[in-house]
Amino acid sequence: MRVLGIESSCDDTGVAVVENGEIVENILIGQEHFGGVIPEYAARFHHLAIYNAVKPFFYDIDLIAYTNGPGLMGSLFVGSSFAKGLAYGANIESIAINHIEAHMMLPYWVYRFDFPFLALIISGGHTLLVFVRGIGDFEIVSRSIDDAVGEVFDKIARHIGLGYPGGRLIEELAQEARGVYSFEFPKPMMNSDNFSFSGLKTAAINQISRDSVVERKADFCDQLQCHVARILIDKLARFQKLYGVRNLVVSGGVASNKVIRGKIQEFAENLQCQLFLPDINLCGDNGVMIAALGELRFEIFGASGLNIKPFSSFV
Ligand code: KG4
Ligand code: ZN
Repeated sequence: MRVLGIESSCDDTGVAVVENGEIVENILIGQEHFGGVIPEYAARFHHLAIYNAVKPFFYDIDLIAYTNGPGLMGSLFVGSSFAKGLAYGANIESIAINHIEAHMMLPYWVYRFDFPFLALIISGGHTLLVFVRGIGDFEIVSRSIDDAVGEVFDKIARHIGLGYPGGRLIEELAQEARGVYSFEFPKPMMNSDNFSFSGLKTAAINQISRDSVVERKADFCDQLQCHVARILIDKLARFQKLYGVRNLVVSGGVASNKVIRGKIQEFAENLQCQLFLPDINLCGDNGVMIAALGELRFEIFGASGLNIKPFSSFV
């Protein structure tokens, strides 16, 4: 079965084709940023990009999977209306996909390990820990009560003049760190099941915003990403112990950070757990994860039908 995946929840238009557990096509069309995502502009961009993005890949398709939420409503309307119209016109089935579940299930689709597993989803819009019992059978056990972890990177990057999206730029600058300057960051909600990142964001911005020395900024970025990794690992450890799971997944845009990947890998090895991470280029938003979850879910739950509405918020 050939599945076309269409991702349009935020700013990038992702289109991919998968077939029997393999990636056949994968493209991501990014849009220009103006220091952040402007919802109205993002929707217009998808509207212009989507036809040309899909057209070369639309051959022998059996199923269309598209992001149905959570995300920006305008962007979701463009992608989901296009997908449903295309499915109707071509007389093929379509399936609505939850963006967060797609991030979470991509490593399973690639590596096919045993259930249950514990998934940490770290993106620009969400920070969640999910206990996954099977395909479509999961429970959110922890979430951020305020900002998502990616938001910390994006806001700080803006304050220190790096631009958007912040995480990758912070990681790049951190490579120039020399460990000359040291910074103190708060570790919020350590005794709680949930995450909180707004205090860390404010404290971090207060320490660096008046700074223009590049060497200090590089040390700051380096220590910030290590600190974020520690916060994530703390919570992962808490729930790994509670559920006694041996398989761990980390995904979402922030999971492309090599320092965070490395530290979580070390943690998993110490606990003799298996860690499954998407390839770096598949951590952020992409069409592959949408097509992949479409393939997995279709086998069990079938198609979605066309009377289905996008939704903006997951939790
Ligand atoms: O999953 P994603 O592409 O979109 C959402 O679903 O939100 O995640 C985007 C987030 C942004 O906050 C971005 O700054 C962060 O992922 N990100 C990173 C890195 N690359 C992207 N954070 C840390 N290090 C990176 N290398
Ligand atoms: Zn995402």
